[in-house]
Amino acid sequence: MNYGPLVFLAAFLALSGSWVGFVVAPNFQLSTLQETNTIGAGVTYPLGRPGLAQQGLQVYRANGCVSCHSQMVVQERTMCEVSLTDFGTNFVAVESALRGINSNYNAQVINELKKSLPKTIVFDTTKQKADATVKLINQAGAKAQVVVTPSGSDIARGWGRRRSVAEDYLYDDPVMLGGLRVGPDLANLGSRLPDVNWHLRHLYAPQTEIANSTMPPYRFLFETRKIGSVPVAEPLNLPSGLVPTGYEVVPKPEAVALAQYLVSLRADVQLYSTPFSTPPAASGSGSGISSNAPAVK
Ligand code: HEC
Repeated sequence: MNYGPLVFLAAFLALSGSWVGFVVAPNFQLSTLQETNTIGAGVTYPLGRPGLAQQGLQVYRANGCVSCHSQMVVQERTMCEVSLTDFGTNFVAVESALRGINSNYNAQVINELKKSLPKTIVFDTTKQKADATVKLINQAGAKAQVVVTPSGSDIARGWGRRRSVAEDYLYDDPVMLGGLRVGPDLANLGSRLPDVNWHLRHLYAPQTEIANSTMPPYRFLFETRKIGSVPVAEPLNLPSGLVPTGYEVVPKPEAVALAQYLVSLRADVQLYSTPFSTPPAASGSGSGISSNAPAVK
């Protein structure tokens, strides 16, 4: 029997199937991606990186930083908490509402609670249960609000406030996702380390900034010059002993661009696809914006 047509058909289906899966479907999902609105602030996100930071992306790429650093925060789930912001005047009604939520609330605990508002009264629950609790509290004449917090091990490490989404990379070419994490994730680096000079010193000699750092130094991005030879340069403020006396270390333009790129890595705004809310301020002003956040699964 002639199997030719059958083999052809099988190969055709396998190849066209993977083409649809890997090319057509992602193109359909992502090609129309645009700047989007942020929750609360209402500004558009992302705005392109400034020129120098854009050049810094190429320095990042050329020096293989991506082989040790990823740029994607993974979020495992969202947690909802209920924060009591205002006790109101009806002590008895609020007390019985609180007891309905948690049988451990006795008069003494409630009195303590009343003095230290805002206070989280329900931890790690679902959106439905949190909403129901808020309703119960509000009916008793007090005020409470839902606080939505993304959680997961990357977020616990302080690498980001929310998961990374495709919009975060809209203006990056190429996207430096990375796959290996020898060093920390850098997706939201600019929020935790916004000082350009810190990055320059860290690139020149990582151990001056992080004790026992195993990150390789990038000294070829700097020049060691005799002091006074070029008066315009701004030298790095390094600990003594690293540079011979009479000399100074000056970042080359590549190092400056790279540092600008590093501080431009910020993915900390709240989007409709990644809601989180700001916990109420200690003054009890209730600055949380969770009521704007869409329902969370
Ligand atoms: C061989 C692996 C390796 C390479 C390559 C590497 N790093 Fe690192 N990096 C690390 C390690 C490990 C740390 C954690 C220790 C530290 O902070 O110095 C780190 C930390 C950092 C930090 C501090 C992050 C934080 O949250 O504290 C920055 C910024 C950074 N690296 C940038 C870079 C840049 C830019 C490049 C490329 C020029 C680069 N790294 C290349 C391993 C690497």
